[in-house]
Amino acid sequence: MKLFPIILAAGQGTRMYSSLPKVLHTVGGKPMLQHVVDSCEQLNIDGMAIVYGHGGELVRDAIDNQNIHWALQSEQKGTGHAVAQAESLIKDDATVIIAYGDVPLIKVKTLNLLADKLENAVLSVLTTKLDKPFGYGRIVRNEKGRILSIIEEKDATDEQRKIDEVNTGFIAAKGSDLKRWLKQVKPNNKQGEYYLTDCIALAVSEGGIVEAAICNDPLEVQGVNNRIQQAELERAHQVIKTKELMLAGVTLLDPSRVDIRGTVKAGKDVSIDVNNIFIGEVVLGDNVTIESGCVIKNTSIASNTTVQANSVIDSAIIGEACDIGPFARIRPDTVLKNKAKVGNFVEIKKSTVGKGSKVSHLSYIGDTQMGADVNIGAGTITCNYDGANKFETIIGDNVFVGSDTQLVAPVNLARGTVIGAGSTITKDTPENELTLSRSKQVTIKGWQRPQKAKKNKKENS
Ligand code: UD1
Ligand code: CA
Repeated sequence: MKLFPIILAAGQGTRMYSSLPKVLHTVGGKPMLQHVVDSCEQLNIDGMAIVYGHGGELVRDAIDNQNIHWALQSEQKGTGHAVAQAESLIKDDATVIIAYGDVPLIKVKTLNLLADKLENAVLSVLTTKLDKPFGYGRIVRNEKGRILSIIEEKDATDEQRKIDEVNTGFIAAKGSDLKRWLKQVKPNNKQGEYYLTDCIALAVSEGGIVEAAICNDPLEVQGVNNRIQQAELERAHQVIKTKELMLAGVTLLDPSRVDIRGTVKAGKDVSIDVNNIFIGEVVLGDNVTIESGCVIKNTSIASNTTVQANSVIDSAIIGEACDIGPFARIRPDTVLKNKAKVGNFVEIKKSTVGKGSKVSHLSYIGDTQMGADVNIGAGTITCNYDGANKFETIIGDNVFVGSDTQLVAPVNLARGTVIGAGSTITKDTPENELTLSRSKQVTIKGWQRPQKAKKNKKENS
């Protein structure tokens, strides 16, 4: 049985007060609609459709998937009308699942459960029970518990409003059935909309059986209409992500203070302190320690490396047993070979720091290829930019750069070079020699320090 999900994503999202279409707002760093697409992708599907409207091209451009058929709903006339826009894409024998681009936490397992209910029914509805069902469509059942219809809040009687079982909006049905019912849906209700939910009563009127799949976690089927609900789902998503990590053997000193906006793959005995943010794809090897307050994005860190507090690492490849921070900034396209050290207030950009090499304090290293066992003194700067172009610095193995040195690129320090402190190096240096540029030190004999001018006593009083 091949499934065909149709994701409704045409709503404007007025209550987000945003120029961005609602379904592109993120949870866990990923657009809500992309979450739903990714979950649908894991079902046994034969393509899927997205009904879009508001923010049209923006939405299409943002969502990354080859399998998608797009259907435009230029005017929002209700959920039934929205699904009807995808009618030409629905095959008669497909099992259609209606999902929502603003309900990001829906699980693959739940969607499969909903589809499985069609074994004994012509239509299945995903429902949940709420203490405060206000605003939702209510599930109306007969005395035997059979589902008869869904009645919207605005159209419900006082008695029906007491029903606590609500429609999540997710339904499943055979393509040919759904198309037949949709043709009969009329906007005869308080909102003047074409309700998808009218299909339930239509199925029952044909003598069909409607089954419910009940979801016990209201957050899984919670839609986002405003930024409070977005934040609630962000938290719920973070709880799921951090639990996965802990169950895989990672120590989180406080899971409520770690955010994962993407994926973290971790080896054994990894420890992560508080206030850390992981973005994109992050890989942590065995025994990696991340101290507090770090932001780590699209980076792999090999085993036994420690990232000390308040470091920021973006798109880098970090070797084994490296020592980073505190307060280090590692920018894209940086490679630290094994046992490299990058200390406090050091910025590294698009550079390789060789095996066992150290840049311990207050330095900027950009566009640099550095060999092994190099020592870069405090306050060393690679001058890689002349205001128009960038240039490379090459540093051979065993080079020692004295403190407060400027290396004006392009420049090549041959292996074993020693640079005297305070130098400005503009020319390539020879192997194993001391090179320095420094004005001669002078002493002015008998020079007097300036004295404070004496103040007049009368003026003072
Ligand atoms: C709908 C259900 C209600 C259910 C609730 C759950 C109907 C008639 N009612 O009500 O039973 O309890 O969802 O949240 O289906 N959309 C479009 N095009 C449209 C209208 C809606 O794409 O013309 C999309 C919206 O972007 C949204 C979803 O469909 O993602 C639901 O629409 P909304 O208007 O919020 O439905 P509710 O009135 O909440
Ligand atoms: Ca509505």
